[in-house]
Amino acid sequence: MAKKIAVTNQKGGVGKTTTCINISAELARLGKKVLAIDLDHQANLTKVLSGGESKFNLTVADLFSNHKVKIEDAIHQAKSDGDYIDNLYYIPSHITLSRQIEQCLTRVHRERILQRHLKKLEGDYDIILLDCPPSLSLSVTNAMLIADLFLMPIDGGRFALDGLSDLLDAIEEVKETNDVNFAVFRNEYASQNKLMNDFLTEQLQVINGKVLKSKVRRSEAIGQASVTAQPLKYYSKSALANRDYKELAKEILERI
Ligand SMILES: Nc1ncnc2c1ncn2[C@@H]1O[C@H](COP(=O)(O)OP(=O)(O)OP(=O)(O)O)[C@@H](O)[C@H]1O
Ligand SMILES: [Mg+2]
Repeated sequence: MAKKIAVTNQKGGVGKTTTCINISAELARLGKKVLAIDLDHQANLTKVLSGGESKFNLTVADLFSNHKVKIEDAIHQAKSDGDYIDNLYYIPSHITLSRQIEQCLTRVHRERILQRHLKKLEGDYDIILLDCPPSLSLSVTNAMLIADLFLMPIDGGRFALDGLSDLLDAIEEVKETNDVNFAVFRNEYASQNKLMNDFLTEQLQVINGKVLKSKVRRSEAIGQASVTAQPLKYYSKSALANRDYKELAKEILERI
């Protein structure tokens, strides 16, 4: 059965989507068959993994609005610069997702919509990555219910850890357990910023075993890659941050 990883943090702009894209690409390179699901109406993951496409017959919004939709029909193979990427597939999102989600709010079993669809893919993928929006919306609770691991990027700012304990409370409630498999890692890491790094290292002491050794450095190439709608390693083979994603992918595999 596919292992499911929810990339999540209520804080906006910490690197959830960028992580999802580059980890998906790295896991696919390692020979895992990967499905990345875009659960954010901003559809940024979709823009990159589709190689810039924006018109789709079916999106994740349709999965939420119509239980008769076949999930297989919403799956596409990822592309970079016009070429298909081996082993990497995605389900696109669409701006209408938030409206569709609102219409689900009175449905019974509304937290299980995604779970029901994914049951039909049993065995087809090794890893499913869920790119969550910066909220605790219904698409996120759907992701929480099925996730085997919660991957939480944090940025390098003074308020990097704000909201994490609230997020963990929400996950514990949805999963009905206090033993949540989560992993935090530093994104946009700048080794020269000693003051901030010391501060965050100290703050993270309380969740010591849940902090990954891997860090993803702050890199201009990462931003440039998303502008050209490519995972980093397709945009620049030589960018140093590729090493960070390799290390991060390895560490993630050890935790699922
Ligand atoms: N390590 C990094 N170095 C440099 N820029 C980065 C890095 N990680 C992410 N970024 C940039 O930061 C911005 C926000 O990243 P991203 O969209 O992945 O965050 P997010 O958490 O998914 O945001 P949202 O909460 O809106 O979904 C993007 O412009 C991205 O290119
Ligand atoms: Mg995002």
